[in-house]
Amino acid sequence: MERFFQQIVEWQLANGRKGLPWQETADPYRIWLSEIMLQQTQVSSVIAYYQKFLQTFPTVYALANASIDEVLAHWSGLGYYARARNLHKAAQMVVDTFDGKFPSDPNLLASLPGVGQSTANAIAAFSYGVTVPILDGNVKRLMIRYLGLQESVGGTAQEKKLWPIAINQVPADATHREMIAYTQGVMDMGNLVCKRTKPQCQVCPVAASCQAYHANQQDELPLPKPK
Ligand code: ADE
Repeated sequence: MERFFQQIVEWQLANGRKGLPWQETADPYRIWLSEIMLQQTQVSSVIAYYQKFLQTFPTVYALANASIDEVLAHWSGLGYYARARNLHKAAQMVVDTFDGKFPSDPNLLASLPGVGQSTANAIAAFSYGVTVPILDGNVKRLMIRYLGLQESVGGTAQEKKLWPIAINQVPADATHREMIAYTQGVMDMGNLVCKRTKPQCQVCPVAASCQAYHANQQDELPLPKPK
């Protein structure tokens, strides 16, 4: 599986998205904030909110010390306000429990409100180079096609199956730079190449070893969700 990792890293460095504001920092506070905003809002909408939010709340202390009403006011427009409430609570937890420093342990990160395992792993990989994979909806689709699984996306049984495979794809000795490129790379692949509709197999770095591509099933997999 190491070959898959290297192919994604090289593809990201050559063809992936560059210059997004949260790619220009190693500050876990900024990376965490971007991942929460990006959970349910697309990149093009997030950028301006992200920059404005950071002007108002430049550190986790500024955010933790703000009132919930101030936080909600600055979240206004992004929607899904439970995210803003969790954000505020998580900032207070980082200050109170972790002395203002985001931990590098993904399991501790996943204990913060609003941070699931995949988001925790993204924060740990981007900020500290921890060798853990993400497994969001995009990555599940990519893996279902790559492995030729005759399945739809979803369910805890599938997560049980896909997590070990995702973990196995990441070499234990990967560098921080490689972890940044790989994590961004699987996100970019899901967005630009292994798209839900019209996957771009002709430019895919892993098409040669993709089961769906070999079976010409890239448009059929993942299967539609049962009604
Ligand atoms: N979606 C979730 N995290 C992202 C990131 N870091 N860059 C682009 N899209 C994302």
